Formats: sequence, C-alpha cells, structure tokens
Amino acid sequence: MDQFVIEGGVPLHGDVRVSGAKNAALPMLAASILAEGPCRFEGMPDLRDIRTMLEILGELGVQAARQQDGSIVTEVVDPSRVRAPYELVKTMRASICVLGPLLGRRRRAEVSFPGGCVIGPRPVDLHLTGLEALGVRVDVGGGYIAADGEDLRGGGELYLGGPFGPTVTGTANVLSAAVLAPGTTVIQSAACEPEVVDLAHFLVAMGARIDGIGSPTLVVRGVERLQGTTWRVIPDRIEAGTLLCAGALTRGDVTVRGCDPGAMTAPLALLERMGVDVERVDEDGLRVRAGARPRPADVVTLPYPGFPTDLQAQFMALLCVADGNSFVTEKIYPERFIHIAELQRMGARIRKEGPTAIVQGVERLSGAPVMASDLRASAALVIAGLAAEGTTTVERVYHIDRGYERIEEKLGALGARIERRNPAREAVGAG
Ligand code: EPZ
Repeated sequence: MDQFVIEGGVPLHGDVRVSGAKNAALPMLAASILAEGPCRFEGMPDLRDIRTMLEILGELGVQAARQQDGSIVTEVVDPSRVRAPYELVKTMRASICVLGPLLGRRRRAEVSFPGGCVIGPRPVDLHLTGLEALGVRVDVGGGYIAADGEDLRGGGELYLGGPFGPTVTGTANVLSAAVLAPGTTVIQSAACEPEVVDLAHFLVAMGARIDGIGSPTLVVRGVERLQGTTWRVIPDRIEAGTLLCAGALTRGDVTVRGCDPGAMTAPLALLERMGVDVERVDEDGLRVRAGARPRPADVVTLPYPGFPTDLQAQFMALLCVADGNSFVTEKIYPERFIHIAELQRMGARIRKEGPTAIVQGVERLSGAPVMASDLRASAALVIAGLAAEGTTTVERVYHIDRGYERIEEKLGALGARIERRNPAREAVGAG
C-alpha cells in the first residue's frame, strides 16, 4: 500500500490549479445513462472514484472511456443491463447515483445497497421515498435495491429534507429519474450544492426542463428523450479549500487558480475570521498568505451555502495551531471525527463532546506516523504533515487518491517535501 512521507515545516509558495469537481463528475457520468447519443465530458479529474464509475457504467452497457485529450466520452451500447453489483458498489458509495438514471431511462434498476462508512451512518431512505413518490416500486432484499419504474410518472410535490438537511446524491437521483417521467415533479428541500446545480444544468443541456435550479424547489417537467451533449464540469471547491488551508497552515503564499470563489463564500469568510489574508486574483484565482498563527474560530458544518462538511477536517487541522480555543461542530455527519485521534498523534489538543470538537491551539504540530481513514481526513493529515516539525508518514493514501488528483505533484510544485512510497514494493525490488 502506498504511503506519503512528508518532511514538514516548509512554507508553500507558488501557483496551483484545481481539478474538476469529483462530486459533480460522479452523478453527471451516471446521468449519461439518460442520453441518446454520445456525451463528452471535459475537465473530468483522473481519480480512482471516476475510474470506478466508468467501470460501473461499463457493467450497465455504457461505453465510457477517457480520450487522449483528457475528456471522457460515454455512449449507451446495451440498454438491457440494469444491475450495479456489490463488488463495485462496495468500493464507492456514490455508485448509488446510477439508480435514478436507470429508472428514468430503462425503468428498472438493481443496485447493491451501499455499505457502511467510516464517517458515520449514510442511509438512502430519502432516495427511495423520493423515487417512490414518482411511482417507482422499491424492493430491498439480498443486499440489493430492486426498483421497478414501469409506472414512472411526475410525482407532484415531494419532499427530500432529512434530519441533517437535504440529501445531495438523493436530489441527484430523484432529479435524474424525474426528467424523463411524464408529468410534473416539484422537489421540495432539494440540495442546493453547486455540484447538484451543475448536474441540473447538464440535464438541461441534454434537453431536460427544470426550473428553480440552485434553489430548494426544483420544478421538473418530464420530456420524452434527452440528447447527448458536451459538458465541462465545475472546479472542485473542496480541493480549492484544501489547498488554501495548506497555504495558510504552512504560513506560505499560494495562489489557487481555476476555482469558483462564488461557490466558496463560507470557507473564505471563515479564513477571514481567522485572520488569514485571502485575496482574489483575476477572475478565478485566490491567493492566500499567512505569516502568523491563525485566530481561533467556531465552525459549524451545514448544507450549502453553509460551511461544507467536506472541509471540516482540513480546517480543523488549521485550527490545531490557532492562537486559542476553537469549536468545530459537525451537523451533517455527527460522527465524522475520525481524524481527531490521528491529529492528536501529531501533538494536537482536541477534545470531542458529542458532535463538537474543542480544539485548543498549540504553537506547532510535530511529525508522526498516522493513518488515513477517509478521503477528507486523509487530506487533513497531509496538510498537517506539511506544517509539522519533522517527518510525517501517512499510511493508506489510497483514500486520498479517491478524490485528489496528483496531490503530491501539485503540493511538490509548491515546494512541499512529499514523496509517495510503497515499502512492500521497495522490499521486493531490493530483494
Ligand atoms: C454527498 O454525499 C457527497 N458525496 C459527500 O462527499 C458529502 O460529504 C455529502 O454529500 C454532504 O455534502 C458525493 O457527492 C458523491 P447526503 P451524500 O445524502 O449525497 C442524511 C466526500 O468526501 N441522509 O447529502 O451521500 C445523511 O446521513 C464525500 O467527497 C439521510 O438521512 O450525502 C447525512 O447526515 C463524503 N437519508 C445527510 O443526510 C438519506 O437517504 C447528508 O447526506 C440520505 C442522507
């Protein structure tokens, strides 16, 4: 298994470009099942999760391949395939995103129930009740969701809010089925995340009729068919936020290019509250400069436009060296704190009380061997390692490869001393 070996304490300097958004790319690739004719996607990041989605599409009779120019082209070749098997779904929860498109276009789906997850329970009940409102009959058995959409129709008004707010991939699923359902569907409490907005715009480019995009009320008027189209995925706001944190944590001077600052209001406001200097450069650049310890701050994760849960761990790493005490409250996944124990191994002082972490800032972190456990927790450990004194070894970096494209190259170009190693392979090579 690969690991990162990081020599910390080097302030990052320079320009870095963000990749396309993983969480927009995945439901959008799944939605290409809906298209008649080929779809071409530009700006798709080269990530493990994207490769998994291409494999799942292959299982579902969609030819999907990356071209020499980096774009991904998909085309349905066998519409009779409707089963997304456990072997693939278990490696990536976002596989559930094929459920809605399969029902929309093929009126049938068998999708393995996505399993548990280290960030806490991740039910799909809202996806299913939303689809049932569209006339889909759902049967759960043998670890699979078997859904029959023969009677798919506009669902009138349906509500997608849950105990922790709207569901992001649930909105994508219901929307992707509703666009081909005869009649009108009004989705109340739809997720407003930029990734859902991008999916909706992509569907409209294919011929769908959707009003209220970007608001919690989506009005969908079903159409008979959707045509393939060309689409450029939005930039990854979470990667951009992670890189800004890395710049601030190492007290460097980093310009993150190719981002959409308009989609990052909450993280940018938080950096400002922490006394970190962030400046807009051109239309799509953000320059972060930090020379001193950040100020402590209180953070609460919330649905968009609130502060994203996918940046909670990275900002916690930054607050670990703040000049005072901070409170980090997780309102989307109250158990998403797996990084605390690892940050503590690096000298962080953090106490967890229910869904809140109390972070007592220390002067500096110190390098240590740590274990990556989920994508964003891993990112937090890497950026903590960049700022820590001494050597940090981050094990199991396959988690980070799921969602960050060429992360060590990007950080290396900013001056970070980070190396990918594989001790097992090196031992075989040496023997
Ligand atoms: C998406 O997951 C993202 N994944 C996650 O990113 C992200 O953390 C999450 O949205 C929240 O922003 C993708 O887009 C592929 P939810 P999703 O359904 O759609 C509860 C990352 O690191 N809920 O919006 O699965 C649920 O338990 C990943 O890139 C129900 O109760 O999240 C949670 O508390 C991790 N019933 C809350 O809603 C349901 O049926 C939000 O979950 C569905 C969700």
